Amino acid sequence: MTTACIRTGLGAAILAGAAVAAEAHDALTTSVNWSRTVSRIVYERCASCHRDGGTAFSLTTYAEARPWAVAIREEIFARTMPPWGAVKGFGEFRNDRAMYPSQINLMVSWIEGGAPEGDPEDLPEPPEYPEENAPAAETVRVVRNGATLESPVVIDGLFPRDVPDGGSYQIVAELPDGRVEPLVWLYEYRNEYGHAFLLEKPLELPAGTVFRGIPAESSLDLIPPPSEPGVRD
Ligand code: HEC
Repeated sequence: MTTACIRTGLGAAILAGAAVAAEAHDALTTSVNWSRTVSRIVYERCASCHRDGGTAFSLTTYAEARPWAVAIREEIFARTMPPWGAVKGFGEFRNDRAMYPSQINLMVSWIEGGAPEGDPEDLPEPPEYPEENAPAAETVRVVRNGATLESPVVIDGLFPRDVPDGGSYQIVAELPDGRVEPLVWLYEYRNEYGHAFLLEKPLELPAGTVFRGIPAESSLDLIPPPSEPGVRD
């Protein structure tokens, strides 16, 4: 009887110890939560497409994102999400969507730690999508392959349209002085991933510039700099 009690007592103590250890372990892996951290990464890196009215299913709330946790982990490890659709280093873009390794690590810790919600009080403001706001249609120049500029333009971004899915296309501007300006090298591009490529610096193209490399079925929107400074930055 006494022995049994002692055994039980000991067992309980061991179990209690194990529970404490497990909690401590959980606490470590779950210190990353949706409300404080992951929502911010998703808003920055994913929600431009993954939202109501976007090109893919919404991931903007905990309830929406939670069921996708395992798939998200796979996609970000494989670096297939967020999709960019172009070869890096050919042209310089300020809206490059690649995640920082620290962001990948945080999301993976969150998922592997059970994807906790955290305190909704910590949620950031819902995201806005200023860069996705299409500039007024009449200010966008649409060019096709072989088009020659009759007057100079300053461009702030490019938006490829109707590109054959999965293709690879090196699009350049041939300047009248013979220089070749790299514009964008589309790679395994899919229209459902479609997005603007916003230039690091506005680019001036003189009259006589010829566009090359645009697929025959496709066109390229030349996005002008915002007319009001600070509207898009
Ligand atoms: C440029 C738009 C865009 C961005 C940015 C983007 N996605 Fe996606 N994503 C898509 C589209 C479109 C699909 C649907 C693709 C398909 O049907 O195969 C998709 C599919 C997915 C899927 C489902 C894959 C499957 O199992 O079929 C996951 C998970 C995902 N995205 C996660 C993310 C995460 C996480 C981010 C941010 C880190 C992100 N995406 C950023 C466009 C985007």
